[in-house]
Formats: sequence, C-alpha cells, structure tokens
Amino acid sequence: MAKARSNFICQSCGAVSPRWQGKCEACGEWNSFVEEAPTSGIGAAAARGAKKGRIFALEGLSGESKPAPRVLSGLAELDRVTGGGFVPGSVLLIGGEPGIGKSTLLIQACAMLARKGERVVYISGEEAAAQVRLRAERLGLADAPVELAAETSVEDIIATLSAGRRPALVVIDSIQTMWTDTADATAGTVTQVRGAAQALIRFAKLSGACVILVGHVTKDGQIAGPRVVEHMVDAVASFEGDGSHHFRILRNVKNRFGPTDEIGVFEMTGGGLTEVANPSALFLAGRDGSAAGAAVFAGMEGTRPVLVEIQALVAPSALGTPRRAVVGWDPSRLSMLVAVLEAHGRVKLGQHDIYLNVAGGMKIAEPAADLAAAAALVSSLVGAVLPQDMVFFGEVGLSGAVRPVPHAGLRLKEASKLGFSRAVAPQGADGRASAKGETPKGMGMNAIRHIGEAI
Ligand code: TYD
Ligand code: MG
Repeated sequence: MAKARSNFICQSCGAVSPRWQGKCEACGEWNSFVEEAPTSGIGAAAARGAKKGRIFALEGLSGESKPAPRVLSGLAELDRVTGGGFVPGSVLLIGGEPGIGKSTLLIQACAMLARKGERVVYISGEEAAAQVRLRAERLGLADAPVELAAETSVEDIIATLSAGRRPALVVIDSIQTMWTDTADATAGTVTQVRGAAQALIRFAKLSGACVILVGHVTKDGQIAGPRVVEHMVDAVASFEGDGSHHFRILRNVKNRFGPTDEIGVFEMTGGGLTEVANPSALFLAGRDGSAAGAAVFAGMEGTRPVLVEIQALVAPSALGTPRRAVVGWDPSRLSMLVAVLEAHGRVKLGQHDIYLNVAGGMKIAEPAADLAAAAALVSSLVGAVLPQDMVFFGEVGLSGAVRPVPHAGLRLKEASKLGFSRAVAPQGADGRASAKGETPKGMGMNAIRHIGEAI
C-alpha cells in the first residue's frame, strides 16, 4: 500500500499542493502553505465498509415531503436578505470587519426569535457569556430566553445542541475561534476552520436547525482564511459600513435559496441596530441642493428602489496626469464615461482632476448610474446647479447612446414618493413604456436617446 503523504494547503484559498511552495499559484498569496495531515480518501471509505446510499427521483420528491416553513427572525431587513427567512437546515455565513456590529445584529435577531417561543442558542468563542449578557442588557433584551454559551470545541457544542429541544437558530460567533478534535492541526488553520464548519453544517442538515456562522474579514474584504467555507455553506452575506457613518448594509453574496441582490439597511444607534425601512430618505438626508456637481440617481438594490446622490468635483489639474478618485463606484466605468463625454458630448475633461463620490457610503454596481454620474460631472465642470427636483437614471453606451434599464416604473415611483417631479431617463423600449403607463402622476419625463441631449 502506498504510504500516506501529507499535503501542503494554502491557508488563504485552500489550494492543495504535494510540495511546499513560496507562492500559491491559485490565489497569488505568498508564504501561505502549511503542511497538514492527509484526510482518508475513497479507498479508505471502502475499507471501512461504506454503505450504499439511496437514490431519489427528482419528480418523485415533490410528494415525499413538504418543505418546512422558513424561520422569520422578526428583523424585516435581515429576512429580506435571507430571501424571506432562514431555510431550516441551512447554514448562513455572515462576514464583516471587526466592530461593524455582527454580534449586535445577531444577538438582536436571537432575542426576537426567542421571544416567539423558539429555542435559540448563541455560542460565543470570543466573549464570555457574561459579556454577551451585558450587551444584551444594554440593548434591553436581557429578558429574552436566549441560551448563551462560551465554548470553542465543536464536539462539545454539538453535544450541547443535540440535548433537549431542536433549536430553531444557532449562532456561532465566530467560526475562526472554533476547533474540532477530528482535525489534527493548530486552531485557526484552514483544516481546523473547515473541519469545524463541516461538523456544524452536518449538524444543521441532520437536525433541521438554522446555523449562522460569523466570519471575520481581512482588510481587503475577504472572509479571513477560509474562503473554502464560503463554498460549503448555503448562503453568504457581508455586513458593511464605514466608521464615519452610522448605517450598515447587509449584502447578499451567495444564496442557494433566494435572490442575491437584496440588501438590508440598518442604523447603529446607542440602543443597537435599528432597521431602516426607507433607505432613500436616509441616503438623501443632509443633501445640499444648492451646490453644483450633485445629481440624484434613482437606483435599484434587488427588488427595492433606492435613491442616492452622486457627487462630482471637476477642477483644472496642475499635474501632467490628472487625478481620478472614485468612492462607491467602479473607476474603470468613470474612465469610460469621461471618454464618452469627450467623444460624443464635446465635454473636455482630459486636463481636469475628477473626484466622484456616492454619498452616504453606498456602493453602486448598476450601469444605470451612468447618466446620473455624467450629469454630476457636467454640472461640476460648468458650475451649474442641477434642478433640486430632478432624478437621473440610464446606461450610457460607448457610442453615447442612452440605453433603457429595467424597472423604470419602480424607480420613478420611489422618486415621486420622495418629492421629485422631474426625471431624465432613457427613451426606447422601457423608456417609452414607462412614459406611457408607469409614470406616476405629476412626474415630468425627459426621455432622451443620446448623451448629447442630456448635456
Ligand atoms: P459588535 O457587534 O461587537 O461588532 P462585531 O461583532 O462585528 O465585531 O459591535 C461593536 C460596535 O458597535 C462598537 O464599536 C460599539 C457599537 N455599538 C453601538 O454603537 N451601539 C450599541 O448599542 C452596541 C451594542 C454597539
Ligand atoms: Mg463580535
């Protein structure tokens, strides 16, 4: 029999190599390979006397069992991100920077659910049970029957959870602090984290409990160490926000049971996280409508329209290569837009420094923001203030054509709700339809086809 050889595993991405390497070819990380003991392969399973599994027919499954109802946390913004509640037996990974409010969010969700009479267990590997209790007390949740434990051994945790009533929700804060007896490696390594996650996922599938794993995030936004865990779990959400703002965004990254483009918006207050049902009002608060270079973009986040302000500052550059700085938007998208404005709008930006900012710390990924960004740039360049009651949306193509974007009706409705009465939007398939049927009362439409018309 061949001698079992140990493998070298990249602690950053989980790539396996038979030899030690200075640089991981898969993720480019330096000095990330650690020798870890081999796991038993297929041959070993056969030697153990593995059982033959049972195979189901897809069409036969429907009648076999009705899916259990989803578990609603009671925090509407959290339930929106999970796609309408947690799926029993599923595992959700929530990543975020330290101090962003992951523990706060989850203890609040636990308390809400526990008050409804469900068994809820919160396991902290970072804080003592008394500290978690203290926080809950500060949040006014101390009376909620949440079971707390400070524990890091996965075997002990599963033994605790398996005793008594089936828990509806289990929170593990955080997965990086957990360790399992079955993995022969130091705590915190990929093998340990993966082993611990595997055991907890198995527990979730067998028991039907929802398990939430908290994961720490490194500076560049990766869930620290085990990217592998992201592939193992059913859903991944990231909790974002920046220190200078009070609001936090829970963003869906992966979801096996629902849409991935939903966001949940929360505000961090002295009394914990409160839900923000109307994010547009929050993002537009404190808007200075009398300044040039600001345009309001009627955007979409998942199924929900969100209005945000795009701010631009264009100033003659003293440098040979003008400076371009973007916050909250794609820098290459800005370069493209600047080129289109020069070529098709006769707007000369080549010798100007350009700063573009999405107000409130929002991140926009939609191409529909092109038109609003263009409006902000031109407004700042010529020093003209845009009308206060005007919103913009539309994708700008390389030819300068303004292309229709989905959900024109929803965007216009949200804008009208917030007191906007004019919209600059694309003409064409969706644009015309929106001008006909979906335009709210009192909304003046400026349907355009080319970037030149907007200027
Ligand atoms: P925490 O949930 O501990 O963050 P994480 O688990 O992601 O590391 O949140 C810590 C921060 O939240 C801390 O800087 C203080 C702030 N905070 C409030 O502003 N109000 C509150 O009611 C609580 C509990 C925390
Ligand atoms: Mg924490």
